[in-house]
Amino acid sequence: MTPPRGTLRRAVGLLDVDRRRVALALLLGTLALGCAVALAGTAAWLIARASQMPPVLELSVATVAVRAFGVGRGVLRYVERLVSHDVALRGMTRLRTTLYDRLAVGRTESLLRLRRGDLLARVGADVDAVGDVVVRGLLPIGVAALLGLLTSVVMCLFWPPAGLALAACLVLAGVVAPALASRGARISEQRAVQGHADMTAAALGLLDDAGPLAVAGRVPTEMTALRTADGQIAEATDRGAPSAAIAAGLGQLAVGLAVLAALVTGIPAVTAGRLAAVDLAVIVLTPLAAFEATALLPAAMVQVHRSRAAAARVLALLDDSAATGGTGGAGSMQDDARRPLPDLVATDLACAWPDGPTVVAGLDLALRPGRSVAIVGPSGTGKTTTLLTLAGLLPERSGTLVLDGAEISHYGREAVAATVLVGTEDAHVFGTTVLENLRVARGDVTREEATAVLDRVALGAWLAGLPQGLDTVLGPDARTVSGGERRRLLVARVLLSSAPLLLLDEPAEHLDPATADALVTDLLRDPRGVVVVTHRLSPLGAADDVLWLQDGRVQARGTHADLRASVPDYRVALELESEGGGTARA
Ligand SMILES: Nc1ncnc2c1ncn2[C@@H]1O[C@H](COP(=O)(O)OP(=O)(O)OP(=O)(O)O)[C@@H](O)[C@H]1O
Ligand SMILES: [Mg+2]
Repeated sequence: MTPPRGTLRRAVGLLDVDRRRVALALLLGTLALGCAVALAGTAAWLIARASQMPPVLELSVATVAVRAFGVGRGVLRYVERLVSHDVALRGMTRLRTTLYDRLAVGRTESLLRLRRGDLLARVGADVDAVGDVVVRGLLPIGVAALLGLLTSVVMCLFWPPAGLALAACLVLAGVVAPALASRGARISEQRAVQGHADMTAAALGLLDDAGPLAVAGRVPTEMTALRTADGQIAEATDRGAPSAAIAAGLGQLAVGLAVLAALVTGIPAVTAGRLAAVDLAVIVLTPLAAFEATALLPAAMVQVHRSRAAAARVLALLDDSAATGGTGGAGSMQDDARRPLPDLVATDLACAWPDGPTVVAGLDLALRPGRSVAIVGPSGTGKTTTLLTLAGLLPERSGTLVLDGAEISHYGREAVAATVLVGTEDAHVFGTTVLENLRVARGDVTREEATAVLDRVALGAWLAGLPQGLDTVLGPDARTVSGGERRRLLVARVLLSSAPLLLLDEPAEHLDPATADALVTDLLRDPRGVVVVTHRLSPLGAADDVLWLQDGRVQARGTHADLRASVPDYRVALELESEGGGTARA
């Protein structure tokens, strides 16, 4: 699975780097290493000349130059680092923003196929790896090429044979060795990138679900998966090691050869009087510094491969989610004047997960502000799947889903989310304050609104008990709140949004029956359009339409009173419930 040609170029294009800054970084890098070479040359000259004990004044310029080059090298290198890292970090921010933008409005089913850790690896480490190509790949290559050329030319001016030998050795160290390293890296990096993604996914799974996995006795299996992924990375690294070692050895060999060539050609020239003895010191010692630039090249080539493999994964994510039905342009809901109340109409809708069997078929449903629909049925019948489909998060398998007069797929993700909002149990609770967690729905939620909505979802007492009230920071991913509190916090968030159609999945889960019924009743009476999935039947008198879902179909529908009168199963479940404890799941 070699990434297609142009993968890296496309990804680097998305970094949208500032060419002038790159050129500046290149110039600064070349000057910094140029100082190192000049330092070696001047120092060699100084030592050699000093041994001839000339008047001290003759040495003073060189002494100052040595100091200037020494200081210049450090300062220039520092400035070069500032500029190049600035370029790279800005680029990564740009690429990551593009990625998040696309993911936010793109097709969600492509994300559903990815494990959380894999997704995290792509938006995290992979984007970094693409950005690193600038600092660790392309710049060192550019600097080495420029500096190698300059040094060889200057050396030729001193003593052409040594200059030519240096050029040949630089090619050995700067082209042959990196090519070798590159060959090893090509295979190993592709494998390592996959290994890293697997490892992140396995580690995250283990950390996230440590409790359930321990109870189920599956920790050893998961640990084995983690070790396998780790082993895969180690194996990939080992595979690349021989080529890398040979490349490093070749680099050293090239330095030795350049020095030897200078000596072998220079000494006879000095004896014959064609070359000054002091210049011999210069041509022998200067090459030592010239190879500083090429020494970075094998690593740079490895970086190029690492970045290319990462680029392929980032682009796959980007392309996958970009294959969407527009971003809202033609399909935005600007024609509100024509149709004041948005409506969502499902006709003969079939709901399913990508690549999975049909979960629910033949669903008809109409939702508009002021209308409430309840969906009930046993566990696993597809209630959640139905909500996700109605919200446009899962593509419909067949039938039609029309939002405001147009197929839902016609709208962009943002436009749909602004009208139909689904609250599911796996929505993310951020490691920030309660208030900020609610403001995810709408940035301008006031403290009063927040307090009121928390009261509404039966979290008033919980809020009162929090040490800093609305400003209490919830732990990472809300590990510090109970399952029920978390669920209702998410319901509160949905309620605060300005979407006119709300889809709520088991909002009263984990509540005691009386509080649960009060909450569901309240939600069903919300003036917006609401679909509530619930396992409590008692409060459904408040719903305009109740759908009894079983075995993948709507088995019965009507008002609460209709169903109680005509559906024996419904009546039994309801009676069990009022006796206490029984639910529609029974
Ligand atoms: N993330 C998923 N990926 C693939 N298939 C899924 C996924 N989640 C659920 N399914 C499939 O969809 C079917 C219906 O599940 P769904 O979660 O919609 O049921 P439910 O009615 O909401 O159940 P519950 O009352 O337990 O929440 C399941 O049997 C399962 O096979
Ligand atoms: Mg469910």
